[in-house]
Amino acid sequence: MSQRRDGVLREMGLAPLWKLRAARTVAPQPPDADRSAAIAAMNWDELRQSVAGCRACELCRTRQQAVLGVGDLQADWLFVGEGPGVEEDKKGEPFVGQAGRLLDAMLAAIGLRRGERVYIANAVKCRPPDNRTPEPAEIAACRPYLERQVELLGPRLIVALGRPAAQALLHREVKIAACRGTLADYRGVPLIVTYHPAYLLRNPADKALAWEDLCFARTTFEGLQKGPAAAI
Ligand code: URA
Ligand code: SF4
Repeated sequence: MSQRRDGVLREMGLAPLWKLRAARTVAPQPPDADRSAAIAAMNWDELRQSVAGCRACELCRTRQQAVLGVGDLQADWLFVGEGPGVEEDKKGEPFVGQAGRLLDAMLAAIGLRRGERVYIANAVKCRPPDNRTPEPAEIAACRPYLERQVELLGPRLIVALGRPAAQALLHREVKIAACRGTLADYRGVPLIVTYHPAYLLRNPADKALAWEDLCFARTTFEGLQKGPAAAI
């Protein structure tokens, strides 16, 4: 009986029932030590491949493709968002939809451009269905990738866009309003928190606050010690 059903499913281009059932039961898992250690040793190509085939959390089921990040691999600035939306999922690049256009304008406001000393990533690499906020377990499962990206990039400054990004990086509860205007620390890299562009599209009155945060980021960046002077 079940064989016959599997035959029908196959004709419809579907997997046998046992496979469909198994596919429904991937629970988000905290990254185990081995997985984290393997990711922590990856180079960019390995990271890209690993993310593309990753099934470590539930979000793998509904994505079209994982979106690792985009930009200059020698970036001074790292901007971290929440997770890909529908357009990003289609295109494979972060922040290419409406929120992305606002992010580009925010970058331009402080003299930055996507891809020029700037890298853009997300807390989770796969699109949460219906653009819901990623679950803590999904953020935890994806964190080793974000951590490896930061390690490989070695940015001078990180800007966390919104609460999930800030929480993913700082590994603790964050309230944006309380955190704004302060300098947090991500493993020795200064980190500034501001509102997510999608939030600003819904709450345009808060754009003025985001502008303050961007000015704070720019001033902080300018005040950072430049690297050690080249030996003569
Ligand atoms: N929102 C995000 O947080 N990231 C994207 O890449 C797009 C929208
Ligand atoms: Fe893997 Fe991250 Fe995608 Fe989850 S969101 S499947 S952890 S790449």
